[in-house]
Amino acid sequence: MKINILTLFPEMFTGVLQHSMMKIAQEKEAVDISVINFRDYSSNKHKNVDDYPYGGGAGMVLTAQPIFDAVDHLKEQSKGSPRVILMCPQGERLNQKKAEELAEEDHLIFICGHYEGYDERIREYVVTDEISIGDYVLTGGELAAMVVVDSVVRLLPDVLGNEVSHKKDSFSTGYLEHPQYTRPAEFRGYKVPDVLISGNHKKIEEWRSKESLRRTLQRRPDLIIEEQLSDQQKKWLHELQKETD
Ligand code: ADE
Repeated sequence: MKINILTLFPEMFTGVLQHSMMKIAQEKEAVDISVINFRDYSSNKHKNVDDYPYGGGAGMVLTAQPIFDAVDHLKEQSKGSPRVILMCPQGERLNQKKAEELAEEDHLIFICGHYEGYDERIREYVVTDEISIGDYVLTGGELAAMVVVDSVVRLLPDVLGNEVSHKKDSFSTGYLEHPQYTRPAEFRGYKVPDVLISGNHKKIEEWRSKESLRRTLQRRPDLIIEEQLSDQQKKWLHELQKETD
């Protein structure tokens, strides 16, 4: 996968892209990420990238030209037709399904604005997707783009050592992940559930499925669609609901 990030603050990305999984993913060549200052594409002699809004009002607006030209240039070098993603609070809310959808693509271009709004023609004629990471306003799209890139890159084949490890993530299964424990079996008198040290794999799988359902019911009941549950899950759901009544 190729990822280009257009920003006025490329240095913001150095820490995030040079550590942990994002670093490993690039070393393994699962992804090629480049961060580009779109000011470099400004045709203005002062390298300006924003201007006052037509009709007046507070704040500045990012002009169309540098972003149109930067995206044109990246598209010319692209083998396919990249998704062009605008980071903004008005966008579609990021979730695991969206991350999985983007992980199927060959080329993603992210556009990050800072402080100001975008000239609407960028949305209309350049952008294919608008993504928000939540209902709050950040000072810029950079942190949001880092979140999206991280959620996508970890899904690429061979990035996580253990291929199955993201298949059981919270949300990937539709439910929140079950609780996990590691050694020791008793710590300060607090014990690990007996079933997990029983060695009975069938019972452990059952416990995990039920606890995953319990956690989802407690924390995110909106994720549970009763018609989609197996008979066993429906039975557990009714048991769990009775426990809380
Ligand atoms: N830019 C500013 N706030 C944002 C948000 N919540 N999501 C994505 N981009 C943003």
